[in-house]
Amino acid sequence: MGIGELESPAIIATGRTQSADWSAMTILVTGGTGYIGSATVERLRAKGENVVVLDDLVHGHRSAMDGEVPLYHGRIGDRLLVERISREHKIEACVHFAALTSVGESVLDPQKYFANNVEQGIALMGALVAAGVRRVVLSSTAAVYGEPKQIPIPESSQQWPVNPYGWSKLLMERLLASFEGAYGLKSVSLRYFNAAGATERCGEDHDPETHLVPNVLKAASGEKAEVAVFGTNYPTPDGTPIRDYVHVADLAEAHILALEHLRRGGQSDFLNLGSGHGYSVIEVIECARQVTGRPIPTRIEGPRAGDPPRLIADPSKAEQELGWKTVMSDLPSILRSQWQWIQKHPRGYTE
Ligand SMILES: NC(=O)c1ccc[n+]([C@@H]2O[C@H](COP(=O)([O-])OP(=O)(O)OC[C@H]3O[C@@H](n4cnc5c(N)ncnc54)[C@H](O)[C@@H]3O)[C@@H](O)[C@H]2O)c1
Repeated sequence: MGIGELESPAIIATGRTQSADWSAMTILVTGGTGYIGSATVERLRAKGENVVVLDDLVHGHRSAMDGEVPLYHGRIGDRLLVERISREHKIEACVHFAALTSVGESVLDPQKYFANNVEQGIALMGALVAAGVRRVVLSSTAAVYGEPKQIPIPESSQQWPVNPYGWSKLLMERLLASFEGAYGLKSVSLRYFNAAGATERCGEDHDPETHLVPNVLKAASGEKAEVAVFGTNYPTPDGTPIRDYVHVADLAEAHILALEHLRRGGQSDFLNLGSGHGYSVIEVIECARQVTGRPIPTRIEGPRAGDPPRLIADPSKAEQELGWKTVMSDLPSILRSQWQWIQKHPRGYTE
């Protein structure tokens, strides 16, 4: 299948072919075959929304998606393709997940990150505006705060990223703010903390995997010999860094609420998505031993550059503005759900 082509049949949740009913408005989900994107597509469809996915499949998985969702294999930087999809599918709003996401890789190859996340992001937003789309929900990140002075972190904290990945996201936030003034594009930038956990269908399966929860569970399943602990001398009770983990199903729900907010004519906003609670690396490993009943060997390594000791969200603004509440983001639920997903997909997604 060539770049820019529609990969899967255009059948929507109701069972009608989409070409038979173009009157219904549709949400464009970029990066919809990725981890958080696929969980959000699943949730959008459960709510009866029409969805179209655009993904270059460099990091996503075809099989993470329900085969009935129209999937365009292409890049967000392909303006002609984005304009065509927007017009043909009557795109009402875009939920923009597509990005490269590895902090370490962004330090080694910043050009790649700015080209993919910013340069292509500009083309995407320009094409959406040209096609008349005026609502965007952006996947942003806690990395926009860099090393925050205040914990828990409110949205008003200084934004000064400490790596190119964080800058690429902050630049997209700023771009959206400028696009509102000039073109009337409304947006909600959702600053996720550490996404983790799985839904029935969608789990975390990156290659390479840099996130703690899947790596801990891979060590539990025997797929990895051990899990690396980066730094044990942080100013935290057990010496390991503390992070705020938020369940992917709770994140998916926040996107639905953000879309509803924009449809109601709500103002553009920047919102933290986290649980408001932090767990250290050692606490995550200990909880995973209890959930799985397996020993999880660890290997102590030096601290990674730019890894702050503690990152915990103040999620109260998202709670007030969107009515968002986490329901799955306690650590045992996060670990149990991803563990169940691993049992069903011992080799991850197989294409
Ligand atoms: N996973 C987290 O903990 C976390 C935390 C904060 C923010 N985020 C943000 O959430 C979003 C989704 O993260 P994820 O963990 O699901 O990542 P992911 O890598 O699983 O998904 C990203 C998807 O985007 C696609 N993609 C990337 N560049 C593209 C391009 N130029 N054109 C078309 N498709 C492209 C990839 O192929 C992949 O399917 C990202 O924007 C990420 O920065 C994630």
